[in-house]
Amino acid sequence: MDLILRGGNLPDGRKNVDIGIEAGRITAVEANLQASAPQEIDCASRLMTPPFVDAHFHMDSTLTAGRPRHNDSGTLLEGIALWEELKPTLTFDDYVARALRYCDWAVGRGLLAIRSHVDTTDPNLTGVKALLEVRERIKDYLDLQLVAFPQDGYLRSPIGKSNMTEALDMGVDVVGGIPHFERTQGDGAESVRALCEIAAERGLPVDMHCDETDDPTSRHVETLAAETIRLGLRGRVAGSHLTSMHSMDNYYAGKLIDLMAEADLHVVANPTANMLLMGRHDTYPKRRGMTRVPELMAAGIDVSLGQDSVMDPWGPLNAADMLDVAHMAVHAGHLSGREQILACFKSVTEYPARLLSLEGYGLKPGCNGDAVVLQAADPVEAIRLRPSRLYVIRRGKVVARSEPTEVLLDLPDRPNSIDYTRAGGE
Ligand code: FE2
Repeated sequence: MDLILRGGNLPDGRKNVDIGIEAGRITAVEANLQASAPQEIDCASRLMTPPFVDAHFHMDSTLTAGRPRHNDSGTLLEGIALWEELKPTLTFDDYVARALRYCDWAVGRGLLAIRSHVDTTDPNLTGVKALLEVRERIKDYLDLQLVAFPQDGYLRSPIGKSNMTEALDMGVDVVGGIPHFERTQGDGAESVRALCEIAAERGLPVDMHCDETDDPTSRHVETLAAETIRLGLRGRVAGSHLTSMHSMDNYYAGKLIDLMAEADLHVVANPTANMLLMGRHDTYPKRRGMTRVPELMAAGIDVSLGQDSVMDPWGPLNAADMLDVAHMAVHAGHLSGREQILACFKSVTEYPARLLSLEGYGLKPGCNGDAVVLQAADPVEAIRLRPSRLYVIRRGKVVARSEPTEVLLDLPDRPNSIDYTRAGGE
């Protein structure tokens, strides 16, 4: 074997497990593995997890916050206006450099797969060309999946349709959309139908920005679910954001969730981004910016989480840490039951891996030799502490390391350091 992780815990609760990796693949997951390897890592009851997966990101705009200025209103619409100002000034090299820098951050956090939307309503498709190049350059250490996203509207932008075709012809992986940004509800529904038909013809998945508004009458996800059923796209379609569901009438929302479950729709919530963007026109009480995650999960729907923004016109914070996103989801969604917190951990690991159809994902024999060792004992502690990623492993090689965090204490008659983990206290 090439690498053995010894004595770690698994997300499913198994403890003191060894993982053996050979030729880039996991070959053994068992207690007291009788084998040796040139590199063996003592995990000391820390959590070993498959890598984090970001289900929803915008890599083309990342790390541009403040250019040309900050979004002071904090609204989605000011974010879009700032992006429209910035977009014509961005060069291919600028896109590539920011994306590569961001991917370094991601690897350092154990985030090794990302679904990124890329704006297709730039006349030159510069962002698309740049991210296609980046997808190729990073593929040995990070899986990047691209969604053709008509930011200015598939129907509303005069180049929305033609550029969608061009971007997909160039090799973008997924069909996107933004029905709530079209001129009318009718146009929104028409865009959903047209885009789902394109996906059906090309055999591609769909991931649409859908109903990212506080308007409870924005119901495009209903059309998305119905088109998914009509066109036989079950399991290949995701609705992202879905924040209008937060404000919908409960009776209607219940019917809608049943329809979404029937369509086997994936849902992607972006709690850190939407907690900032939504409710901006409310007086008190102010609405939360997240779709109905507990109810969707209870209906058996896979809910994945995404960052959406890292330091861009829509959000000034985030740092490639999917545990931050899970932490926010727990708070914003009242998801504090133990099983619910565990589900939020799956929302940044196995559910988005299924959404992206990642091959060989997981910690089982035969899976890719990819893992992250955290300075935490279990998934709940990981979300509570958002701790150091002690080792990030891709295809059996350590690609990033962090020192364990330790706080030194200088108090009389007290220990001289603090370890906030249970593992450290035992
Ligand atoms: Fe988004």
